[in-house]
Amino acid sequence: MTTKDGRPFDRASLDYLMRRRLFYTPSFEIYGGVSGLYDYGPPGASLQANIIDVWRKHFVREEDMLEVDCAILTPHEVLMTSGHVDQFSDWLCKDLQTGEIFRADHLVEEVLKSRLESNLESRGHQNEGEIEKEKKRKRTKTARLNDDVVQEYQEILAKIDNYNGEELGLLMKKHDVRNPVTGGELLPPVPFNLMFQTSIGPSSNAPGYLRPETAQGQFLNFQKLLDFNNETMPFASASIGKSFRNEIAPKSGLLRVREFLMAEIEHFVDPEGGKKHHRFNEVKHIELDLLTRDVQLAGKSRVQPMSVGRAVEAEIIDNETLGYFLARIQLFLETIGVDKKKLRFRQHMRNEMAHYATDCWDAELLTSYGWVECVGCADRSAYDLSVHAKRTGAPLVVREPRKEPLRIEEWHVDLDRKIFGPKFKKDGKVVEDTIKALTQDTLKKLLIELKKEGKITIDVNGIGSGKVQLDKDLINIEKRTRLEHRREYIPNVIEPSFGIGRILYALIEHNFWVRPENESRYVISFPPIVAPTKLLIVPISTQDWWAPTVRRLSNKLRSLGISSRVDYSATSIGRRYARNDELGTPFGLTIDFQSLKDNTFTLRDRDTMRQVRASEEEICEAVRNLTEGTETWQDVAIRLPAFERQDVD
Ligand code: ATP
Ligand code: GLY
Repeated sequence: MTTKDGRPFDRASLDYLMRRRLFYTPSFEIYGGVSGLYDYGPPGASLQANIIDVWRKHFVREEDMLEVDCAILTPHEVLMTSGHVDQFSDWLCKDLQTGEIFRADHLVEEVLKSRLESNLESRGHQNEGEIEKEKKRKRTKTARLNDDVVQEYQEILAKIDNYNGEELGLLMKKHDVRNPVTGGELLPPVPFNLMFQTSIGPSSNAPGYLRPETAQGQFLNFQKLLDFNNETMPFASASIGKSFRNEIAPKSGLLRVREFLMAEIEHFVDPEGGKKHHRFNEVKHIELDLLTRDVQLAGKSRVQPMSVGRAVEAEIIDNETLGYFLARIQLFLETIGVDKKKLRFRQHMRNEMAHYATDCWDAELLTSYGWVECVGCADRSAYDLSVHAKRTGAPLVVREPRKEPLRIEEWHVDLDRKIFGPKFKKDGKVVEDTIKALTQDTLKKLLIELKKEGKITIDVNGIGSGKVQLDKDLINIEKRTRLEHRREYIPNVIEPSFGIGRILYALIEHNFWVRPENESRYVISFPPIVAPTKLLIVPISTQDWWAPTVRRLSNKLRSLGISSRVDYSATSIGRRYARNDELGTPFGLTIDFQSLKDNTFTLRDRDTMRQVRASEEEICEAVRNLTEGTETWQDVAIRLPAFERQDVD
C-alpha cells in the first residue's frame, strides 16, 4: 500500500505515532491488557466524536431520521427470536496439542496468502544461486506452486467468505492447512457463538447478552416510532452505541475488537413497488467501484466502476433504496477524508450473507491489512419485524387507508355451530383453528371434495387419530367478495451499519504521510471537519506578555465554534508545529512581537507549511471559513498576503 503522495506506507511508524500521541491504547494495559479492547486518548476520542458529528448531520439530520438510544443488555428471548443465539457464529478450529484456537476462514486465508507470497518471492529471485533458492523452498515448504495450484488458491481467496464450516474443513484437509507456527494438525471447524452471555438481575435465571448490534432495539420499537412519525412511511430510525462480539481472534488493532462503536440506520420501506427512494435522482449519477457477487464466484476481484443509476437499472444493485444508501455512504466517507481510490463496494455471496439478509454490500476500505469491511449495507427484508411479531403477537405492521377500496374474492367457511359444538366438544377450538388456518388453495380443493363426497377429511394436530371428518351439513365453503379499505403490510428494512472504529483507523491510514524532506516528520492530513483540534495557537516564546492576546483569541475562536489549543511549551515553533502535524491539526496561528504592535498574526497550513499574515479579524474569518469548508487553503493563500519567513519549520 502507498500513502497519498505515492510513497510506501510504513505501518510501524504509524503504530509508533498512535501510541506516542495517545490516539488509542490497549485497555487495562498495566494489568497486561486484554486482546480486542482499546481505550481512546484525547485525539482519538475527539476524532471519533467529530466523525459521529458528521455522521449525524449527513444521515440523521439530512433525512429526518428518528434517533434512538436503546438498552445494551438484551434478554435471551429477543436474540433467540432474532436468530442470533443459533446463528451468530464464526467457525473455530483448535490445535489439540497446543490448545491454540483459530478462526477457520481467517486461517485458511492467511496460510494460502503466505504460500502465494512465498511462491512469488521464490520466482522473483531468478538470479539467486540454485542452493539459495533450494534453501528458501525448503524453509517455506510450498514455495514452488504450479500454475494450477496458484489459480486454485486465488479462486479460494476470492470467495473465502462464502464457505461454511464443513467446506472450510474440506479445504483445510485438501490443502494441508495446519497451525502455522507448530505445523500441528487441527480439529475440524465448529461453530462458535460471538455473543457475550450474562445474566440479568440477582437470580441467575434471566439469561441475557450484551447486544451484538444496535439494530434489535430499533426493530422492537418499530410500532412506537411509526406512531411518533404520524404513521407516515417510509421512515428511518438510527442509533449510535456500543456493540459487543466475542471475536475468536482479535487482531489488526482497532479493526477486529470485542467492544466497538456502531452507528446503524434502519430504513423502513414498503416492499411493494420495487423499494423506490424519493431522493434517488439526487445520487443516481454517482460512480461506485463495485465488486459483484458473480465476479467473486468466478474467482476474481476486479471492480467495475458504475453509476448507481446504471447498477440499479441493470439489477446489479437490487433496488433504489439500497443504491441510494450505497451512494450516501460513499459521500459520507469522502466527506470525512477517506481516499476514494481505496474504497470499493463488495457484494456478499449467498452463503456469506447474515441469516436475515436478502442482499448485502460492504463498503470496504483498503488498509495495510488489506481490504476491510467498514460499513455493511444489507436488505434485511421483513425478517426481523416478522419474527418478533410472530413471537410476541405485537402488531409490527403498517396499516394504511387505501385510496380505492380493494375488492377481494375469497373462499369462506361457515360452520353450523349447533352440530359442530356437540360433535367436537373440548376439541372444538383446535379443530376450528385448524379450519381457519386452511389456505385459499386448500379450501378450493376441499370444496370439490365436499361436493363430490358429501364430506371432507382434514388433518388436525393434537387430537385422537389426527384426522377429522366434516360432513356437508356441518361445513359450507363458498366464494364471497369483500371490500378492503385498509392495507396492512410488514415493512422491509434497508440497513446501513457503520463500524466507527474501523472507519477511524482506515481514515488515519489514508491520511498519514511522511515529509519527503525529513523522514522523521510525520503528518496526518485530516480534513478540518474531523481533525481533533482545528487550530494550534503558538506564542513565539514562553513569556507572560502573550497571555492577554492568547486569551482574547481563544475566546473569540471558541465563540466561533472552532476548537483550538495553545502550545506554550519551551520548544521551538518548528517542533511545536511538527507535534501538531502528527495530531492532524490543520492550521497554526503564531503570535509574535509584530502581533503585539499591529494586531496581525500568521496562519500556517499543515500540509503545505505555507503561511499568510493578516489582521486578527481576517485571520479569524479565514480560520472559520477553512474549518467550515467554505474556503480552501488555496483560496485563502490568494486572498491574504504570504508570510515568507518559512524558517520557523
Ligand atoms: P467481519 O466479517 O469482518 O467479522 P462482519 O461481517 O461480522 O465483519 P457486520 O456484522 O456486517 O460485520 O458488522 C457491521 C459493521 O460493524 C462492520 O462493517 C464493521 O465496521 C463493524 N464491526 C463488526 N465486527 C467488528 C469488530 N470485531 N471490530 C470492529 N468493528 C466491527
Ligand atoms: N446490524 C448489522 C450487523 O450486525 O451486521
